Amino acid sequence: MSQKHQAVAIDGPAASGKSTVAKKLASSLGLVMVNSGAMYRAVTWQILKEGIDPSDQASVVDALNRMTIDCGMSGGLSSIAINGRLLSEELRSQEVNGNVSIVAAIPAVRDCLVAKQRSYLDHNDVVMEGRDIGSVVFPETPFKLYIDASEEVRRARRAKDGEADAVALRDAQDSQRKTAPLKVANGAVVIDSSEMAIDEVVDIAIQTLKKLGWSHS
Ligand code: DC
Repeated sequence: MSQKHQAVAIDGPAASGKSTVAKKLASSLGLVMVNSGAMYRAVTWQILKEGIDPSDQASVVDALNRMTIDCGMSGGLSSIAINGRLLSEELRSQEVNGNVSIVAAIPAVRDCLVAKQRSYLDHNDVVMEGRDIGSVVFPETPFKLYIDASEEVRRARRAKDGEADAVALRDAQDSQRKTAPLKVANGAVVIDSSEMAIDEVVDIAIQTLKKLGWSHS
């Protein structure tokens, strides 16, 4: 990698535990944690707020070109604001869950957000979680993990969080799209978290990164 900063890429299906693992890894290793899914959710939230049909690609792209998207950081975690409004809880709504995969399949949306994701590395070492981080956003990083879990476990995790989220449908849409589908990136180490407590997954992730040559902090 030509940049001086390093990226840990974590991909995996919905509710596989990758966000929690990424947060804990970030605090153990002193990295900024970037939640790339929040960016796709934020654009989806704005599209729905404007009353645009997410499957009307031309209208989505037109709205995207009018939005001001600010990707920042707060307390070591990525943050996102659209047209000056900082978004958080609203990104987990049922409407966003049900439409985000449609918006995330639009190539112009991905191009715009991938550029923002890459720019975090200009100033920070990051752990970034998503669907295409090891395959598209940072294909050159040697530090790639894929966190998996059975569909049953993932559905139960979402229900426990009180969230209505058709994880299987979202995964099917995310894995079958033409542009940057969810897949195990070349060189990624797969960790199945179905039967593990989160701290166990984090320990395995840290050991794996060290084996791969991680030497920061
Ligand atoms: O990680 P998440 O469940 O919050 O992501 C929400 C959606 O965003 C996911 O269903 C697909 C899309 N996404 C994506 O296409 N690429 C990423 N790198 C991250 C998320």
